[in-house]
Amino acid sequence: MISDLKGTFSQISNNNKRSAIREILKLTQNPEIISFAGGLPAPESFPVDALDKIVSDMLCEEGAAVLQYDATEGVTELRELLLKKYQDEGIQCSLDNMIITTGSQQGLDLVGKIFVNQGDVVICGLPSYLGGIGAFQAYGATMAGVPMDEQGMSAELLETKLEELKQQGIKPKFIYVIPDFQNPTGITMPESRRLEIIALAHKYDVLIVEDCPYREVRFEGKPQRMMYELDNNDHVITLGTFSKIFAPGFRIGWVLGPKDVNEKIVIAKQSADLCTPTFVQKIAIGYMKSGLFETNLQKTIDLYHQRRDVMLAEMDKHMPDCVKWTRPEGGMFLFITLPEHMDALDLFHKAIEKKVAFVTGNVFYCDGSGTNTIRLNFSYVNNEKAIAGIQRLADIIKAEMLVGETC
Ligand SMILES: Cc1ncc(COP(=O)(O)O)c(C=O)c1O
Repeated sequence: MISDLKGTFSQISNNNKRSAIREILKLTQNPEIISFAGGLPAPESFPVDALDKIVSDMLCEEGAAVLQYDATEGVTELRELLLKKYQDEGIQCSLDNMIITTGSQQGLDLVGKIFVNQGDVVICGLPSYLGGIGAFQAYGATMAGVPMDEQGMSAELLETKLEELKQQGIKPKFIYVIPDFQNPTGITMPESRRLEIIALAHKYDVLIVEDCPYREVRFEGKPQRMMYELDNNDHVITLGTFSKIFAPGFRIGWVLGPKDVNEKIVIAKQSADLCTPTFVQKIAIGYMKSGLFETNLQKTIDLYHQRRDVMLAEMDKHMPDCVKWTRPEGGMFLFITLPEHMDALDLFHKAIEKKVAFVTGNVFYCDGSGTNTIRLNFSYVNNEKAIAGIQRLADIIKAEMLVGETC
């Protein structure tokens, strides 16, 4: 081993931190533990049988071509199929705007790579997806958190933050938002809030990175138009993915972005992986063309809807009044706020002893706050386990209440 390995690592490598969630997940590996911790889609939602036929037909018909390199931008037919979905919604976009990535996590990484210099400011919600924060911090971003309310990132506090930064001569690189069924809170921004944030992006001349992995997983309420569509002024870069609507193991995501931004993303992607695997892109094309995409997505939505209802019903039944939680209209997560004196990490260790697990909410707060919050996943665990798990969790919380505590 060389003498100064630590000093040999790059600044980016030294900026990288282990994901707090992945560390927590290690503690939840015991099969006896009922885990609401991971962000895992239900394996029952994966179309295993359909893929069996699609893969063998594809190999028969296309042979070696499906095993070849393809363009860094992605296989054209897949890009066209994805574009068609957006165009059917009335969104104006063309091939120049669409790049396939290796999961939307790669999209987040590439966005960090092309925009962030050491010390640049990126704005995100308090709380926000940890994998997004980590991707931007790896390139040296200083994250500036803006509190959320029940409609997502507060536009009023965003303006305060933008003004504060302007006074200091700082122009943030972009505003990172997850407008639909946000990870970790499950909150969705109504159109009015989206428009307010876009207006601020225009006023302060800042880009928006709109991360949309859960948008199509809506159980109830009115679908919201994407910020990309509402802006229509090249201020928004949207990230999409098949992970929650098809299968995360495919590692297929995409960037829907302004042409000038996408050109830079393609160059950055060339040095990352040349191209997203052709094989999985071709399977995805076969899957979308078979018509199974829509039917399977509906089954997934129905399954998560039912699992969310079971979880909410158990929470209503067992949680003390002083505990509050979100009621998401889709996605995979809900978010609990405990009384302020409770520490979710302390509770986590007690919960592991009782064989139930969750993610402490503070890991999603770039300023380290949110110590009395918890993220629960409802897509993975079956109803029977969810009922037992929520009861256990409620008992643990009740045991933490102060003597005579009223809400
Ligand atoms: C908000 C958000 N963005 C991006 C990702 C990454 O998804 P993937 O790389 O599987 O597409 C996730 C995964 O959970 C997420 O919750």
